[in-house]
Amino acid sequence: MRSFLFVPADSEKKLRKALGGAADAVILDLEDSVALADKPKARALAREVLAAPRGSMKLFVRVNALTTGLTGDDLDAVTAAAPDGLVLPKSESGADVKRLVEMAGLPVVAIATETAASLFNLGTYGDCGPELLGLTWGMEDLAAALGAQANRDALGRPTGPYELARTLCLIGARAAGVEPIDAVYANFRDLAGLEVQCHDAVRDGFTAKMCIHPDQIDVVNRIFTPSPEAVARARRIVDAFAQAGDAGVIGLDGEMLDVPHLKAAKALLARVAG
Ligand code: COA
Ligand code: MG
Repeated sequence: MRSFLFVPADSEKKLRKALGGAADAVILDLEDSVALADKPKARALAREVLAAPRGSMKLFVRVNALTTGLTGDDLDAVTAAAPDGLVLPKSESGADVKRLVEMAGLPVVAIATETAASLFNLGTYGDCGPELLGLTWGMEDLAAALGAQANRDALGRPTGPYELARTLCLIGARAAGVEPIDAVYANFRDLAGLEVQCHDAVRDGFTAKMCIHPDQIDVVNRIFTPSPEAVARARRIVDAFAQAGDAGVIGLDGEMLDVPHLKAAKALLARVAG
């Protein structure tokens, strides 16, 4: 999976559009994009969408945070319709994921950087079991939690606390053996800026990205699909090691390659195959 598109589940129009689009996964949002008074409508529409015949697009539901008292009603509405997974906002640690898995019996993607305390617990997701699919991060709720006046500098780049959240999310996900999923790019009219952020994310090891607008999907899908050149190079690296009798280190095109390069090449080929 490369692209996850959030859609406010109380909007029939947006639901229709999202389901007809090219996102690898759609997240039916019951949380922050839906006003409290509209939660029942959003739950009902989400259930309807899940109950309809489905294609290959994965359908997730973002429930309300465990501290809100709303999660139970969210789950009552959607679990029987078997979403492909849940998105847990404001996850504070692996224990929150385990709690949701116990409540729902469904796979989970956790948004793991939305509270101050959560940043100290990015190393706790390793024992959540196979139900934890991925970790992602977010900077809007975190900014509110930190009492920040802004979370970007004059050039639009995330400031220190949010760079830290991003880094800890990536490392926490890799340490837990789950997918690191990059956060949303909020400025949905700026596709050039989105493109830069996607390349940075792929460079650093993220394998997918959250989206908030249909226009973002094509960019994300394109950049998160390993390029033919990258795949060809990975094959050459694996072949070169094999031809060298599985040596520890080889030279290829004037560059030294050792075990980490071989591992990265194999991981890329496994991603493409899977
Ligand atoms: N999913 C599906 N359809 C969407 C969409 C989304 N996330 N965002 C916009 N659209 C639709 C619009 O309804 C509109 O449809 P139309 O052409 O049939 O009229 C079309 O795409 C173009 O939308 P646009 O006018 O550019 O944006 P907007 O002003 O209608 O909406 C947002 C802007 C930010 C409100 C909207 O993109 C949105 O709701 N995003 C998701 C927010 C969310 O879920 N947040 C929580 C996670 S951070
Ligand atoms: Mg939020």
